[in-house]
Amino acid sequence: MNKINRKLARTALAAAATLALHAVAQAGEVEVLHYWTSGGEAKSAAALKAQLEKQGHTWKDFAVAGGGGESAMTVLKSRVVSGNAPAAAQIKGPTIQEWAREGVLSNLDEVATKEKWDSLLPPVVSDVMKYKGKYVAVPVNVHRVNWLWANPEALKKAGAKLPTNWDEFFVAADKLKAAGIVPVAHGGQSWQDFTTFESVALGVGGADFYKKALVQLDPATLSGDTMKKVLATFKKIKGYTDKNAPGRDWNLATAMVIKGEAGMQLMGDWAKGEFVAAGKVPGKDFLCAAAPGTAKSFTFNVDSFAMFQVKGDDKIKAQKDLAAAILSPEFQEVFNLNKGSIPVRLNMNMAKFDDCAKLSSTDFVSTAKGGSLVPSIAHGMAVAPAAQGAIQDVVSQFWNSDKMTADEAATKIAAAAKTK
Ligand code: GAL
Repeated sequence: MNKINRKLARTALAAAATLALHAVAQAGEVEVLHYWTSGGEAKSAAALKAQLEKQGHTWKDFAVAGGGGESAMTVLKSRVVSGNAPAAAQIKGPTIQEWAREGVLSNLDEVATKEKWDSLLPPVVSDVMKYKGKYVAVPVNVHRVNWLWANPEALKKAGAKLPTNWDEFFVAADKLKAAGIVPVAHGGQSWQDFTTFESVALGVGGADFYKKALVQLDPATLSGDTMKKVLATFKKIKGYTDKNAPGRDWNLATAMVIKGEAGMQLMGDWAKGEFVAAGKVPGKDFLCAAAPGTAKSFTFNVDSFAMFQVKGDDKIKAQKDLAAAILSPEFQEVFNLNKGSIPVRLNMNMAKFDDCAKLSSTDFVSTAKGGSLVPSIAHGMAVAPAAQGAIQDVVSQFWNSDKMTADEAATKIAAAAKTK
């Protein structure tokens, strides 16, 4: 090596060392609270972890098992109250506003402006991520809740067809039952009862009814005749579930459909993450369709991470880097392919996604235009947590009771909706 080259090499080495030092100095840890512990969910969480590590930061896992995240939210509260909040937590919908009001969330506007979040996100999503006009959370996906999953072999064996309305649903369910197959895979946990309930509400009552009842909490609509019809239809489904349903986790219910032990499941498209993680192919090994009667509507459930205030430049930097990376096209693709959801970032190339996701993506846009895109009440998108919890309790009591009539349940729901 001649003198000049040696000098150049030394300069390059020095520059590389400075860069490395810089990277080390900026590397921080992000403790992430989430409840993604099932097969498909764990793969999605791993994608998020890999993303953070790619940026040189460290992931501290704070997973709290329990579908729907109720347990995770309880743990989060105690951590924040004791002054030990995680850096990032998977919270969503109006709950984001409640945490922001407590003054414990970080302002993400610097990242949001730099990355142009306002133009990347549909307003129906970005509005929820902001508190008093400032971003305090970053969305990862759009889940559709009003789905029906089915095992095509089981349907064939029973001579049943994939239902498009509730009458057809019960015809198919009867045939499955006669063939010795559990018609509906259900997990008797309150949030799963409520998930089924909201799809029935949308299918039987339509999007306008859904909005009046389960978003605006209009007392007359909540206790009216349509609600009673919804409740009667909802309760009828119970007769098609198996005796082991109480307490069953949602992913174990999905596994019943995967194995052909059950014919159908009403569940959001995180269920697709389970089918896919089990190596199953949509259209061949399993079928997806809008929940009966809901083909022209869409109940959305947007997972998002709120960032809690942390101390230390390294931790703040890591938090911001994570927030920025979540909306990158690369991450949106890999995460959502595993999660079963669709990208929340607009105008993404959907080439690698399956037909269920493509349908979800077109329906998300068309229902937004037509006014039938509605927030999921069962998944914390529609109303404040207190009212949600109270209504959910009544729905589960009704599902589990042999005595409560649909009329009584409707009256109780209207009263529960007033809970503040
Ligand atoms: C939903 C959440 C999904 C999925 C599901 C089951 O509320 O949005 O990401 O995890 O619960 O836990």
